[in-house]
Amino acid sequence: MQNQVTIIEHPLIQHKLTLMRKAETSTKKFRNLLKEVSLLLAYEVTRDLPLKYELIKTPLSPMDAPILAPDKKLVLVSIMRAGQGILDGMLELMPSARVGHIGLYRDPKTLIPVEYYFKVPHDVEQRDMIVVDPMLATGNSAVAAVERLKSTNPSSIKFVCLLAAPEGIEHFCQVHPDVPIYAAAIDDYLDEHGYIIPGLGDAGDRLFGTK
Ligand code: URA
Repeated sequence: MQNQVTIIEHPLIQHKLTLMRKAETSTKKFRNLLKEVSLLLAYEVTRDLPLKYELIKTPLSPMDAPILAPDKKLVLVSIMRAGQGILDGMLELMPSARVGHIGLYRDPKTLIPVEYYFKVPHDVEQRDMIVVDPMLATGNSAVAAVERLKSTNPSSIKFVCLLAAPEGIEHFCQVHPDVPIYAAAIDDYLDEHGYIIPGLGDAGDRLFGTK
């Protein structure tokens, strides 16, 4: 199976992404922008959610009105810690979604991910999963996270990031050809430290002001 890679080129997303990339953008502004962009990403990622019809009464008339199918439940999984920024935005749009967290850190020498935290809802098997991490760089963390999450048997999995490197997309697609990827942009390449160029720097540091 071939991955579906969707680049969401909405002008509002692209504009906000440019503001996020700027080195002079403050932590507060970066955080707000990431939240806003995540709302817009969520809009695209949930485009295929099924609807059912319910008989309601408007003040003037009864009608069959569309609502989200109640049996289609979501779980959002944040790859810690930068995933939190996307999670916060998506939760504003989907406040009833359940939330999982997976904690992986990159060994600075090998760039290989090491798991230090894992918690997902008990009924994950009945849920469609949206895994979020702003940066798909080497793909090592995303690949390992999705591998671990697949072992919990969710109904489906989508992966959402802000920026991706071509190397990360290739790696992810090789290991998880069944998982669609959504991104706001694909940048040029990875540097020798595994950073996306031109990128926006370390998403976690910029989100939490830890640099
Ligand atoms: N993680 C980040 O936060 N930034 C990069 O450029 C790559 C990985």
